[in-house]
Amino acid sequence: MVIVVVGGQWGDEGKGKLIDLLAARADMAIRSQGGNNAGHTVVTEDGEFKFQLIPSGILHKDCVCVIGNGVVVDPRVLIKEIQQLRDRGIDPRNLVVSDRAHMVMSYHPVFDQLEEQARGDDRLGTTWRGIGPAYSDKVRRIGFRTGDLQKEAFMRKKVEFVVGQIKNPILTDLYDEQPIDCDGLLEEYLGYARELDPFIKDTFPLITDALDDGRNVLLEGAQATMLDLDFGTYPYVTSSNTTAGGACAGSGVPPTKVDVAMAVLKAYTTRVGYGPFPTELLDHVGDAIREKGHEFGTVTGRPRRVGWFDACVARYSVKVNGATSLALMKLDVLDEVEQLRVCTGYNFRGTELRHPMANISHLKHCEPVYTEVPGWEEEIGSARRWEDLPGNCRAYVELLEEQCGASIDLIGVGPRRDQFVVRREQAYFA
Ligand code: GDP
Ligand code: IMO
Ligand code: MG
Repeated sequence: MVIVVVGGQWGDEGKGKLIDLLAARADMAIRSQGGNNAGHTVVTEDGEFKFQLIPSGILHKDCVCVIGNGVVVDPRVLIKEIQQLRDRGIDPRNLVVSDRAHMVMSYHPVFDQLEEQARGDDRLGTTWRGIGPAYSDKVRRIGFRTGDLQKEAFMRKKVEFVVGQIKNPILTDLYDEQPIDCDGLLEEYLGYARELDPFIKDTFPLITDALDDGRNVLLEGAQATMLDLDFGTYPYVTSSNTTAGGACAGSGVPPTKVDVAMAVLKAYTTRVGYGPFPTELLDHVGDAIREKGHEFGTVTGRPRRVGWFDACVARYSVKVNGATSLALMKLDVLDEVEQLRVCTGYNFRGTELRHPMANISHLKHCEPVYTEVPGWEEEIGSARRWEDLPGNCRAYVELLEEQCGASIDLIGVGPRRDQFVVRREQAYFA
């Protein structure tokens, strides 16, 4: 069975926690896009783990973890992440990195930052991890793949062309910066090559065999639908396809093999970085949710923008991803909110709309139409069954479910691994 897990809002919905739960019964977990702009958290009895490149299934020793062809890998970050796991007694021997995956080169974060600065007030608020520049080079066919690390002569020639003839003139002539030393860069990457060599493989046979053998395979989405390069709030998006379709292209799992698409939703909405956010709260209610939910970026530490649950966004995600199953996370964060609001539509120039539109100038002028419901004002962190949740809490979940048009099967009631309400088993592997 193959399950694709995607973020349904603007990221940080709790994908890491859900993947860890599902990985207990999975044979393989695959990251298929994004890079170390992602920060996926898993909290176990051994403490907190934050994964940026390594799939969140790695804590399950029988789960093969694949960094797929569609990911952009910063080798410096990957080496550090592997070391951090080893330091905590976890052997990442099940980790495999696709030799087709492109690398974030050390100059990509530099260009990310320079481009953001050049945009001035129109900056996107990227993570400065070099993600956009790395994907741009992939599309321009001047990217370096992890497999290139295994070909020294090829690397040397390519560095001379890409860095010597393309990157350096931009750095010196456009940005008035120092040029990159090609020999130094090559030496640096040959060092990474030695460390990462055991992990870099052609993942095609591995994934194909798993599918042919009917294994349980998880595709771990990073970022989220509203940050999708095509379907998100362009240009305030990331540089990859974060939706279910992107997961196939970024892993080599054919669309015909996917059984279930699951979208992960937070019980309210957050966003890091700039761009439209119709239900954003700029008052003390938003501040209280941010504090209670520890809504500060996993990667950059930036405060996340907070707002009410936006069913227009969630419904759109259900459709774009073909999601039939939903996981609703961080419901406990709303425990103390007296009156809750759910955006059920957008009022745009007198017409009520049910989905966000492509034109973000219009989206910025959409007025949310809210349904107000009473909160439950009770702690739910120890609930494990649907019946354990207070009546108002269940009514809130049912309202969201009805508004989204898909079944809410799993509910997160706290950061810890065990803090889950399994409402319907259908979301699980057989
Ligand atoms: P991801 O990027 O989608 O994997 O999400 P992040 O890990 O960036 O952010 C989610 C944060 O919420 C992390 O700190 C998690 O430990 C935490 N978290 C996940 N699920 C729950 C939940 O159900 N309740 C609470 N209170 N925290 C949660
Ligand atoms: P996970 O997987 C939340 C946001 C950035 C910025 C925009 C573009 O943890 O949910 P980029 O560096 O990708 O070019 O930045 O996308 N962004 C995320 N926001 N969660 C993430 O990942 C994100 N990855 C990127 O804040 O607005
Ligand atoms: Mg995150």
